[in-house]
Amino acid sequence: MNETLVSEENAPFRRLLRPVIKALRLAYIQGTTVVKFLPSEKAIQLYYKYRRKSYDLQWSMDPGYRKGLTRLVELTIQEEDRVLDVGCGTGSATIMAAERAREVVGIDLSPHMIELAAQKVEEKNLLNTSVAATSVEGYHPDSPFDKVISSFMIPHVKPALRQSIYSCMYDFLKPGGLVGLFGSRGEVCDVYETREVIMENLSNAGFRDIVIHDVYDIYRIAIAKKPLA
Ligand SMILES: C[S@@+](CC[C@H](N)C(=O)[O-])C[C@H]1O[C@@H](n2cnc3c(N)ncnc32)[C@H](O)[C@@H]1O
Repeated sequence: MNETLVSEENAPFRRLLRPVIKALRLAYIQGTTVVKFLPSEKAIQLYYKYRRKSYDLQWSMDPGYRKGLTRLVELTIQEEDRVLDVGCGTGSATIMAAERAREVVGIDLSPHMIELAAQKVEEKNLLNTSVAATSVEGYHPDSPFDKVISSFMIPHVKPALRQSIYSCMYDFLKPGGLVGLFGSRGEVCDVYETREVIMENLSNAGFRDIVIHDVYDIYRIAIAKKPLA
């Protein structure tokens, strides 16, 4: 499924702006290639220790990012759900999910990003939400989740290890649960997965009914189901 940029309104000035916004998005996404050069968990933590202050501001400049997150939440989450946000960073998706779901847990490798996420949760008085500093691999929940979401975490994982991260997400889910992933596209920037690779990784991890939505020029949402049995 392909969707168009920024707004559904057809105002002429918006049409004129489209190529400019698209070029800016492309430039920004190409910049995220830097995560390829972070060789270890410690390096990722150090990177986000300094990056965290500008993180929300940078992403807020692209309305497509926020719309993409909103779409991810709409496509994945229902009000009775207990949701896990994997690699939640400063908690943007966690908070959107919390406004819709019964309970949300956000986890992230970076204690500095988690500190910002925790502040937001407190400021918004979200009693159904908690966050914790842990890697995906080191996380062992007491009970499985209805939904797992993740936004822009996968590029941090070396391609050969991505399938094991998807396997962790699979294990975090109840049978019949859904995973929803938001990111960019390997066809646009090579730290992300192409349509074929994401299908293959999800399917090798055990997921079925995989649906991919290409949204807002450079973004992609993938939804997949853990089978009932
Ligand atoms: C680009 S940020 C995305 C943050 C947030 N999901 C968003 O959309 O704004 C990627 C996040 O993934 C986290 N991360 C990277 N590898 C991780 C891992 N193995 N386990 C948990 N979090 C990880 C980083 O610490 C970082 O906060």
